[in-house]
This record gives sequence, C-alpha cells and structure tokens, in this order.
Amino acid sequence: MKKDFFKYQAQTTPHPLAMEISHAKGSYIYDSKQKSYLDFVAGVSACSLGHQHPKVVTAIKEQLDKYLHVMVYGEYIQEPAVELAKLLAQQLPESLEKTYLVNSGTEAIEGGMKLAKRATGRSEIISAKNAYHGNTQGAMSIMGYEERKQAFRPLLPNVNFIEFNNFSDLDKITSKTAGVVLETIQGGAGFIEPTNNYLKAVKRKCESVGALLILDEIQPGFGRTGKLFGFEHYNIVPDILVMGKGMGGGMPIGAFSCSTELMNLLQDKPKLGHITTFGGHPVIAAAALATLQEITSSNLIPETLEKEALIRKHLQHPLIKEIRGKGLMLAALVDSAEVCNEVILQSQDKGLILFWLLFEPKAIRITPPLTISNDEIIAGCNIIINLLNNIQAKMA
Ligand SMILES: Cc1ncc(COP(=O)(O)O)c(C=O)c1O
Repeated sequence: MKKDFFKYQAQTTPHPLAMEISHAKGSYIYDSKQKSYLDFVAGVSACSLGHQHPKVVTAIKEQLDKYLHVMVYGEYIQEPAVELAKLLAQQLPESLEKTYLVNSGTEAIEGGMKLAKRATGRSEIISAKNAYHGNTQGAMSIMGYEERKQAFRPLLPNVNFIEFNNFSDLDKITSKTAGVVLETIQGGAGFIEPTNNYLKAVKRKCESVGALLILDEIQPGFGRTGKLFGFEHYNIVPDILVMGKGMGGGMPIGAFSCSTELMNLLQDKPKLGHITTFGGHPVIAAAALATLQEITSSNLIPETLEKEALIRKHLQHPLIKEIRGKGLMLAALVDSAEVCNEVILQSQDKGLILFWLLFEPKAIRITPPLTISNDEIIAGCNIIINLLNNIQAKMA
C-alpha cells in the first residue's frame, strides 16, 4: 500500500507521515498493524466529535438509505440541509440567519469574498499578515505569506494586508475596502488571539467606511474555544461568518452565514452569484446536523475550557516557552523548530498524533477531539513531557 501511495496518489508535502490507517474510533487512530495512536490533532480540528461518533455514523447511515445527491445546491428541499441551516440560525445572532452550504473551507471564503464585493461594489479585500484562508486562488490571494503564493501569481488584485492586533494598521481600511477577512484566532500564524478589543476596533472601522467584516472561524468554530464560535468571546458579530472543518464531524463541508438581506444579493445582478453542485449534500449535511446537535446539547463546549486547564497543568516543561490559544485550540511553543520537529516525529512512535502549524515552525499543534477524556489528555501530555525530557537530556 505504501508503494502505491507514493506512486499513484499525489502529495504536495515532501515528507508525508505515511501512516497506513486501518480504522479509527473515539480518540484513537489504528494503523494497519493495529497499533493505536491517541489523536491530539483531530484531522487538523476537523474531527470535533472524535472518530466514528455513533450519532454522526447513525445520521450518515440513515441518510444513505434515503437518498444521496439529487440536485445542484439550493433547488430542492432536502431535510438535512434545511435542518442544519435552521439549527445554525437558532444558535447564531439574528443578523446571521441565512447560511449557504458549500464543500470546503476555502470555498466558503470564496463565497464570503464575492459577497463582500457584490454588496459594496468595491474590490479591495484586506486580510492579515500570516493569515491562512485556504488554497483556491481567491483564498490564496489573501494568504499573508508570500513564500507560499509567489509561484502562483498573478492572483487577485487589490488585496492589502494589515498586521493582526496592530491598531494603527486599521487606517488601511478605507472607503475603497469591500471586506476585511480575518481569522478570529489566527491559526497557521501560531494560534494568536485578538487582544484589547482589537476585533471591536476592526468592526467599528469597517462600519465607519462601509466595508464588511468577514470572520474565518474554520478553526476556532464549532465549539473548540469554549463557545460555539470564537467571535462570541469578543463582543462583536461579523457581517459574514465563515465556517468549515469541525462542522462536519469528519465529513467535508464549509458554509458562510450572514443576514438574509446580504445573502439575497447573490440571487440578483447577476443571478446565480454563487453556485455549487454538491453544496448541502444530504449525507454530509446529515453528519453536520448530528454534529451540531451533539455539540450544542451536551457539555462539550464548556468542557473545552476545563480540558484546556488540564493541558496547561500537565504540559509544563523548560523547553515549552508558552502555550497559546483557547479551549482545545492550543499550540505549545517550544525552544526551536528542531525541538518541535523531533517531538512531532517521535510522538508517532510513542502512539501519539501531533502536528505542525502552517507558518510557525516552533509550534506543536494540540487540537484533540472535543470528546477526548481527561485520562487521555493526561496520557498524551505525559508522552510529550517524556519526549521533551529525552531531548533535553541529549542537549545537555
Ligand atoms: C483558518 C482556515 N481557513 C480556511 C481553511 C481552508 O479550509 P479547507 O482546507 O477546508 O479548504 C483552513 C484550513 O486549514 C483554515 O485553517
């Protein structure tokens, strides 16, 4: 299988971890030799309810027996998609009552950017340095990391960047700006939280110049930070909310939500302002609905903060300089990129899954499923501490 993986399946990472998967359940992934791995990454924050959550699996199976794809997005009334959009509206502020379901995070970003251009009649999009919003060419245009996009230019024109948390940069948001796209908590940059009412200031500035604020909640969203969405911590409501990843309970999905008035603009001048064949797919919507029902009807959201405290308590080591983030969106910042690589690569041998962040080479990603138990958290942290002890001993 490994040979065929390298021969036939495209990879863009030079060194794939290449673990051969047998199955996955709860907080564990099993390889083809039936070795278990405690999952501290959750498919990069996508498997919010762990692996094979029974309610998600049941919802998928029940939908499989009814119908699969029947029509392009938005033409027919399909219960899973309608119920998902309705439950989302019930959980969100009134001004975010309408949801467009798409297939991935990057596509949801595309939809949000297009809507901001359509709504304002302007073309400038502002985003943040070190931001990541996806890999299609629109989303890549607003990625704040030149090295990874240079080869694909020309990208979108009229894209400008501000530094996250820098108040004086807000002057760059002007009456030419269609939309400001920010991650509520910056992910790839190193799990950087907005400080000192920064997002409030951004929102105020957007309002004053008639630009729309688009918040990318693809990582913090769906309960990971102690609220259903990260923006709820910061006393603001975006004009457009973008979500994905953990929304699907392990299935591919994205969405953007806004007011009915705003969303209706995509029906007019031109009509079909955003279209997609598979958006709102019934099986995937059923999985997302079961995920949202479980997250909002259990204690999983408040428990993320208790689990954060447990991780912070058990992850103390001289080689860990800082733990950034909120809830179960955490990153341990270590001494050097070398230490980071060693921990991540060696953890696999010890039966623990860890991973990198995109643009911060000293950060170890800790984003386990929300369903992880306290014992599993302590076990995983102990593996990390033991690895760091070994690395420190070698350094001495
Ligand atoms: C903050 C953020 N935005 C957008 C995306 C893109 O989502 P997708 O990979 O589903 O297209 C990601 C994916 O990592 C992300 O972390």
